[in-house]
Amino acid sequence: MPDTEVAGLKAVGQVDENHAAGWVGPGVSDAAAAHSGHRCRLMERTYAGAGIPVGIAPFEGQHTTPAATRQPGTRQPERPLISVTTSAATPSWLADAILYQVYVQSFADSNGDGIGDLEGVVEHLDYLAWLGVTTIWLSPCFVSPFRDAGYDIADYFTIAPRYGSNDDLASLIDQARRRGIRVLLDLVPGHTSDQHPWFTRSAADPADHRYIWSADAVPDGFVPSPGTRPGGYLPNFFAFQPALNYGYGRPDPSQPWRQSPDEEGPRANRAALREIMDHWLGAGVAGFRVDMAASLVKDDPGHAETSALWGEMRAWLDREHPSAVIISEWGEPATSVAAGFHGDFFLQFGGPTDGLPLRSLWNNRQGTDQEQWAPVAPYFDAAGRGTARTFCDAYAAAAGIAGGAGQIILPTANHDFARLRCGTRGAAQLPAALAFLLTWPAVPALYYGEEIGMRFVPGFADIEGSVLGPQYNRAGSRTPMQWEPGPGAGFSSAPPGRFYLPLDPDPHRPDVATQRADEHSLLHLVRDLIQLRKRNAELGTGPAASLDVLHDGYPLSYLRGGRFLVVVNPSGRTERAAHSRADLATARAVLGSGVSVSADAVIAAPFAYSIFALPQ
Ligand code: GLC
Ligand code: CA
Repeated sequence: MPDTEVAGLKAVGQVDENHAAGWVGPGVSDAAAAHSGHRCRLMERTYAGAGIPVGIAPFEGQHTTPAATRQPGTRQPERPLISVTTSAATPSWLADAILYQVYVQSFADSNGDGIGDLEGVVEHLDYLAWLGVTTIWLSPCFVSPFRDAGYDIADYFTIAPRYGSNDDLASLIDQARRRGIRVLLDLVPGHTSDQHPWFTRSAADPADHRYIWSADAVPDGFVPSPGTRPGGYLPNFFAFQPALNYGYGRPDPSQPWRQSPDEEGPRANRAALREIMDHWLGAGVAGFRVDMAASLVKDDPGHAETSALWGEMRAWLDREHPSAVIISEWGEPATSVAAGFHGDFFLQFGGPTDGLPLRSLWNNRQGTDQEQWAPVAPYFDAAGRGTARTFCDAYAAAAGIAGGAGQIILPTANHDFARLRCGTRGAAQLPAALAFLLTWPAVPALYYGEEIGMRFVPGFADIEGSVLGPQYNRAGSRTPMQWEPGPGAGFSSAPPGRFYLPLDPDPHRPDVATQRADEHSLLHLVRDLIQLRKRNAELGTGPAASLDVLHDGYPLSYLRGGRFLVVVNPSGRTERAAHSRADLATARAVLGSGVSVSADAVIAAPFAYSIFALPQ
């Protein structure tokens, strides 16, 4: 695969098909094209949530496949074989989590230097507790040259001075725990910064195999050595992020850098991963979000060896840190959970259709977008030209395979792709989307500011590697949190010109203080939805929380636990769906408005959402 030039930055494609991050990976697969021709099947269907008993379980029986037995004839590793079954359930705290991603540099600046920091997070823990958040994930906050906003780590064991100190993290963990909030760190296993001492050493020593080095020539996709060592190294994402060597799924002696995962370099890197996890788990974190988790072993058909690696890590965690979790940036829960992850995100990339299910919900192509993504009308759009079918089918398939072994995690946005409020999708459309997110049987993931309807802000220059393509600037999702009205928005006392990124310049930008004072605000709705979910097991992910989708056109309607009826209408038109459940007419609205239910139909006003309780 050739390298891809993006806006002056070289986003490096890999020499094999193993690249995890779809935005620089191959285009949409044939499977995606086939999928778009897919047609409606049934009016009423039952989907499996993680651990949910199902009426129709399309993939029943597949969810206990041990990762290491799926590829007959491959290497028999000396490391333990892992069988992740439904009995190895995820800790209940993850199943019940309300996950909230804190992008540290943009969340709250406590010392007036214009950059968010750990003490700033501490200062807002009461807010997060009030909102109902149970777990926060901090994007990488380690020593780094920040050419990829901290995903280029130069020291895994030390907090970057711009965010504070290791002691500040300890105090954050402690203060969060007092409020019932767990802290996840970001684990970046696939690559380091080119400034990491492991790499500078490796660039000077041809006998070092912590990275993937060619001997003399610089093969396609490799980057010329910056050191005395000849040849070149394989990058994992940007050129300045050398891939750590975990070996190849298909070693090849004629290309000596294609080592077996059993060689010394890969073994040393696996040991280093355990050491890093052990260090931070010992400091009290609850686990990790794992960056580019699918990318570790190169040229790895079916991700067999990468899965075996994570199976090994999971076995180690289960022995040493049994309450810790690892959740993956993989975008394919069926594969990653079988590999050993406790949960995986649906993402804008990943899986057989390169992220189509998530994009079919949100991506209106006005925020972050890749030219190679097949056009899809997003379901959450005023035009009302999409369908929830694509997502529901993918969710059902993933949940059927993941079974009770792991959680599916559903975000509306993150630091890599556009926020919900984006382009023509304005504030009026957010309540229905967030009602969906918080009543769906996946673990909901809120990205900071989604709860007040912060906007994707277009038009920035590249900041710390934010630009990935002509229409792909991640900075738009990374602007400072809006805490208050006024010039600095309560983010920082620095002059706004010195902020990490400019604030959203919209004079009507939303903020926490104003919405907290208004019971009819989006913020209060999100809080109410979280409370409703927490108080009613039927709205969660456990055994009582079955999901029956009644209609996946407009409006979307589904039953949870046989007890709650949820109706959301993302369209700007009044929408009507017939149904054959006369008992629904007796349901009582518990949250929302604009939806009426009769004995044979549901009628929803533009952008309406409602949750009803059925008489028991
Ligand atoms: C992940 C991160 C992204 C980063 C990339 C390289 O996808 O979420 O922000 O640029 O990995 O580490
Ligand atoms: Ca600061």
